[in-house]
Amino acid sequence: MPVDIVMPKLGLTMTEGLITEWRKKEGEPVKKGEILFVLETEKVTYEVEAPEDGTLGRILVPAQQTVPVGAVVALLAKPGETLASAPAPAAAAAPAPKAAAAGQAPAAKKKIVIVGGGVGGYPAAIRAARMGADVTLIEKDALGGTCLNWGCIPTKSLLQSAGVVQTMKDSEVFGVKCKGYEVDFGAVMNRKNTVVSQLTRGVGALLKAKKVKVIQGTASFVDPKTVQVNETGEKVQGDAILIASGSTPGRIPIEGIDGPDVMDSNQVLAMKALPASVVVIGGGVIGVEFAQFLIAMGTAVTIIEMLPGLVPGVDKEIAAILQKQLTASGVKVVTGAAVKGIAHKKTENTVTYAIGDKTETVTAQKVFLTVGRKPDFSLLNIDKVGVKHERGAIVVNQFMETNVPGIYAAGDVVGGIMLAHLASAEGECAVKNILGHREVMNYKAVPSCIYTTPEVASVGLTEEKAKERGEIQVGRFPLRGNGKALVLNETEGMVKVISDRKYGEVLGVHIIGPHATDMIAEAVLGMTMEMTAEELAGAIHPHPTVSEAIMEAAMTLAGGAIHMP
Ligand code: NAI
Repeated sequence: MPVDIVMPKLGLTMTEGLITEWRKKEGEPVKKGEILFVLETEKVTYEVEAPEDGTLGRILVPAQQTVPVGAVVALLAKPGETLASAPAPAAAAAPAPKAAAAGQAPAAKKKIVIVGGGVGGYPAAIRAARMGADVTLIEKDALGGTCLNWGCIPTKSLLQSAGVVQTMKDSEVFGVKCKGYEVDFGAVMNRKNTVVSQLTRGVGALLKAKKVKVIQGTASFVDPKTVQVNETGEKVQGDAILIASGSTPGRIPIEGIDGPDVMDSNQVLAMKALPASVVVIGGGVIGVEFAQFLIAMGTAVTIIEMLPGLVPGVDKEIAAILQKQLTASGVKVVTGAAVKGIAHKKTENTVTYAIGDKTETVTAQKVFLTVGRKPDFSLLNIDKVGVKHERGAIVVNQFMETNVPGIYAAGDVVGGIMLAHLASAEGECAVKNILGHREVMNYKAVPSCIYTTPEVASVGLTEEKAKERGEIQVGRFPLRGNGKALVLNETEGMVKVISDRKYGEVLGVHIIGPHATDMIAEAVLGMTMEMTAEELAGAIHPHPTVSEAIMEAAMTLAGGAIHMP
């Protein structure tokens, strides 16, 4: 059977596309990933790639014609295949049959094997099962993966405890005298464990309810359609395999890195006692969240960051406010510092670092290493089946498929932005494509959150990146002008809305302040719908809420804010 080449859906609002140019001729051999045609919508120009090797057998829609999303525009003959029985060009007028809508009738009864039960794998398993597939999920450790067991959820539980401490410290501001408090670190960790186990049990129950077969074990490839469970030798076959094997904490090659008091994030989350002092190497997202937790618990914290500022990927203005706040809460922040080594003595560790040509040291009971994470496919034997990887990450196309037909990958293992919610979206995109959809993974509006106090949340381009792309406008609103922030006693912060100068489309929203991580969802939805700053400013926001600051920041780009002179 030839492969249908269809008009892809590139955004929620796209209903049709104009084929501006065919880059291949009928009868021309094509390699997977080569550009077949260029399409244009009102908003974008996009190059559509060949989903696999073959010959462009028949062009059904010539250039300069507009066709609806889902219409078959060409047929790609597989190697050795002829198109004698292929539909005539008239077929082009009719849109391709719609693939089954997610969550509804089965697209096709396919066997899908998913390797990894984290947030890249388990939602994909549930989605695939809901779409009627026969799904097997193989997990070597705990369901829920890093996010539920050693990442997002446990750290947020710890930060919630830190927040309670902060409330106690600040209680008199609210007219409540608090007669002392005591942190029971064991109880803090136990609560974290309870939250985690409740969620992981829930994941198990959801998979069971959807009849996903869960195998406990380590998968490795036997051939492109088969993996073996190493512990039992069981072989599991699928029409398609999704790799969602995640990532592991990164390490740096310095002396003393294997010392007994040097801990990665997994080890920190299993600590039995609160250290008196800690040096955190790496001032990224994990580093600042741990620092926030520890300082609230009473530990002395120093962060050593290689780059000139903390949380390097974050909009610079927002990152600077966070750095100021962390410093004000007692965290010692050292930036522009290259760590040279860690010397371990009985009860303490001396970390040596260089700032320019000056060498300095800091001593602490423990050293936390939070220098990034790296994709992990080490146990999968992917080279045996020829899955391509570059710079330590599995390479996928916009449909989340690897270079090997039928093998897909999603989540941290494909590198790039390593965030739980993105992993889930990629995994779902992959299984929908396995089951007959043609969904392009859309990275336009991926939010990112930091759960410090104040919280930080962003979506879209930072001001620095937006400026590189063209003419922009920036609207800012400080939280001291927001009533709810004053009620909460959390007025240190701001909202920043970045829009394109010509069309007014919102390109980025950055928030630092209370509830930032929840509020960013509004901006994500808006950016997904390609909203303008004017539309954001015109939406009625509930009062009194911190979310009004988003509206007011947008208003500064659309006639001026109300609560700012
Ligand atoms: P990261 O990439 O956010 O930060 C690592 C930091 O370490 C960078 O600032 C880097 O400049 C610094 N660094 C690297 N080598 C260093 C050295 N030799 N000396 C000093 N500093 C050095 O990585 P992080 O914080 O470990 O987080 C890993 C992943 O987990 C990230 O992709 C992050 O997005 C994700 N994550 C997300 C969370 C969230 O959404 N709230 C929470 C925790 C992690």
